[in-house]
Amino acid sequence: MVFKRSPAITREQVLEALKDVQDPELHRSIVELDMVRDIAIAGGHVGVHAVLTISGCPLKDTIVDSIKSRVASLPGVDRVEVHLGVMNPEERQALIQKLRGGQGPTRPSPFLSGESPTNVIAVASGKGGVGKSTVTVNVAVALSRLGYRVGVIDADVYGFSIPRMLGVSGRPTIIDQMIIPLERDGIRVISIGFMLPGEDEAVVWRGPMLHKALTTFISEVHWGELDYLLMDLPPGTGDVSLSIAQTLPKASMLIVTTPQAAAAKVAQRSAKMAEKVNMAVVGVVENMSYFQPSADGDRIYLFGQGGGRLLAEALGVPLLGEIPIDLALREGGDNGQPLVMARPDSPVAQALVEVARKLAALVPTPAAVSGAR
Ligand SMILES: Nc1ncnc2c1ncn2[C@@H]1O[C@H](COP(=O)(O)OP(=O)(O)OP(=O)(O)O)[C@@H](O)[C@H]1O
Ligand SMILES: [Mg+2]
Repeated sequence: MVFKRSPAITREQVLEALKDVQDPELHRSIVELDMVRDIAIAGGHVGVHAVLTISGCPLKDTIVDSIKSRVASLPGVDRVEVHLGVMNPEERQALIQKLRGGQGPTRPSPFLSGESPTNVIAVASGKGGVGKSTVTVNVAVALSRLGYRVGVIDADVYGFSIPRMLGVSGRPTIIDQMIIPLERDGIRVISIGFMLPGEDEAVVWRGPMLHKALTTFISEVHWGELDYLLMDLPPGTGDVSLSIAQTLPKASMLIVTTPQAAAAKVAQRSAKMAEKVNMAVVGVVENMSYFQPSADGDRIYLFGQGGGRLLAEALGVPLLGEIPIDLALREGGDNGQPLVMARPDSPVAQALVEVARKLAALVPTPAAVSGAR
């Protein structure tokens, strides 16, 4: 009888396999991030010693499972043991530097210096309650479903609603000063709501602190590589909007309005503000355009008609969509199940996907510009 012995497993093979294992929060290979400290091989038995960024890493089980399954898939491996440790402060600093593109901690964020390839789109309105957050969340989901890498900043620090609408809660991991955004279906999210002790806590910050919070969201959050970073603004033309416009030289603005002429007039002020600070307005979305009780019923124009088109014409930008009043859209927001995620084929979700498509065409990613996408 001839025994077929598998060839001995090598350290290189294990390392190669581990290159496929990503840190679930940092989205980079654990090998690339120098998180693999040691590999021990004895026959078919492989031991991996990996170091995590911080000791309470909430996703450590995920990392262990992916190491185990990836290494176990190598021929000849019959047992995998994972031993976890924690990086020392120097290793952590080295990792942060690596994540920041090999630059020292004093280098300004590429967002702030205008060098980032990510398209930042601020979603604004004149009046409150017109549906900015609803549009932000659903367009974010739509862009993500179209294959783009998407992040959302909840810049409405007083009236934040993104955590509830996107159905994300928890505390972001902080590695030294680097904040790791939370995620929902691959969409990276940051909100002041994740930092407060309780959900009903009020934010009592004033201007300078607000500005600081927003710059932190932009410069100290590890967004990784993104195609689009959507920013849900508070209503009006207040300090937050100005602050962002001044901080982010390359952000553009998407304006949401309801169909009343009066609302469109107020929204125009946001556009004026954008113009003053050299921010380009990319388009207008009219929300709550009409209500249609049944598919074959008449449309009821509860809030009048034409405001979105008027505003778009006045600004010389395209009208990207007219979103009707829809019960499921509202419920999706309340339940953290955005309509575009829960019922992507519904006509209202499709109208929002169309907004995302048009937006992506107007503000293309560098890959799209060069024809790679
Ligand atoms: N097209 C729509 N159909 C039905 N309900 C909607 C629609 N758009 C928004 N809503 C609901 O209206 C309310 C206000 O919407 P949303 O919070 O998105 O507005 P906002 O402009 O972000 O408000 P704020 O100015 O307070 O930030 C929410 O309850 C939302 O679910
Ligand atoms: Mg809002």
